[in-house]
Amino acid sequence: MGTYALTGGASGIGASLAALLREQGHKVINVDIREADVIADLSTPAGRQAAVAGVRERAPQGLDGLVPVAGVGGSGPPGTLITSVNYFGAVVVVEGLRDLVSRKRGAIVLLCSNSAPMSSPEDPLVASLLAGDEQQALQIARDNDNGMHYMAGKRALACWMRRNTMAYAQDGIRMNAVAPGPVDTPMTKPLFDDPKMAEVMQYLIDNTPLGRAGKPEEIAAAISFLLGPDASYICGSVLYIDGGYDAHTRSDLV
Ligand SMILES: NC(=O)c1ccc[n+]([C@@H]2O[C@H](COP(=O)([O-])OP(=O)(O)OC[C@H]3O[C@@H](n4cnc5c(N)ncnc54)[C@H](O)[C@@H]3O)[C@@H](O)[C@H]2O)c1
Repeated sequence: MGTYALTGGASGIGASLAALLREQGHKVINVDIREADVIADLSTPAGRQAAVAGVRERAPQGLDGLVPVAGVGGSGPPGTLITSVNYFGAVVVVEGLRDLVSRKRGAIVLLCSNSAPMSSPEDPLVASLLAGDEQQALQIARDNDNGMHYMAGKRALACWMRRNTMAYAQDGIRMNAVAPGPVDTPMTKPLFDDPKMAEVMQYLIDNTPLGRAGKPEEIAAAISFLLGPDASYICGSVLYIDGGYDAHTRSDLV
C-alpha cells in the first residue's frame, strides 16, 4: 500500500480524504495547524518549511501521492491570510516535496475552486502569485479589499498547475486539480448561516443542475480516483466537481 501526504486533514474535505485513503489501507501523513501528524502553520515560510521537513522525516522512501488541501475562505479571514495559505501554502509544499513524489512516480492533486474563473490571469494579484512574489502579493491583497482574494488564489493555483504539468510529468509526476463548488464543510457553514451570504449561496444552489451543495466525501472520492492507477492518463486537468454549476453558467467556455 502507498504513502500519501496531505495538508488540511483535520477538517472537511481533507478529513474525508484522509479517512478514505486510510480505509484503502494507505499510510497517511497529515499536515495541519491542529490535530495532525505534522503541526505547521502554512501561512508562514517557517511553517511551510516545518511541513516539508515533517513529511520528509516520515516518508524517506517517497510519496505515492500529495494533496495540499488546507485552505481558508468564507467571509471571515483577511485577504492576506487567504493569499498566503491558499496559494503559497500549497505551491511551496508541493515544490518542497516534489522529489519525494518523483521517487515513486506519484500523483499530485491541487484544491482549486469553481469560483476561480471569476478572476483572470491579468488580475495583478494572480500575476504576482504566479511570479512567486509573496511580498508583492500580500501588498496587493492588503490594498485591495475587493473580496476577490479567494478566487484569485484559486485561479493562480490552477494556472500554476497547468504551467508546470510538463516539468512535473518529466519527473514522473501526474499533476491535476479539482475545482469544487460549495461543499458542506466548516468553511462554508458560516456562509450558509449568514443571512446576507445565504442569499448568494442560494443563488449558487439554484444555478446548480443537481440542486444542492456537495459533500466532502464526494470531493474525496474524486481526488482518490485522480491519485490512483485508473487515472493513469489524466494529467493537467482541472476537474469541476460542482453539481454542474460551471457547465450551466459558462456553457460554451470549454
Ligand atoms: N468547502 C467548499 O465549498 C470548497 C469549495 C471549493 C474549494 N474548497 C477548498 O477545499 C479545501 C478544503 O476546504 P474545506 O471546506 O474542507 O475547509 P475546512 O475549513 O473544513 O478545512 C480546512 C483545513 O485547513 C486547515 N488550515 C487552515 N489554515 C491553515 C494553516 N494556516 N496551516 C495549516 N492548516 C490550515 C484547517 O485547520 C482545516 O483542517 C480548501 O483549499 C478550500 O479552499 C472548498
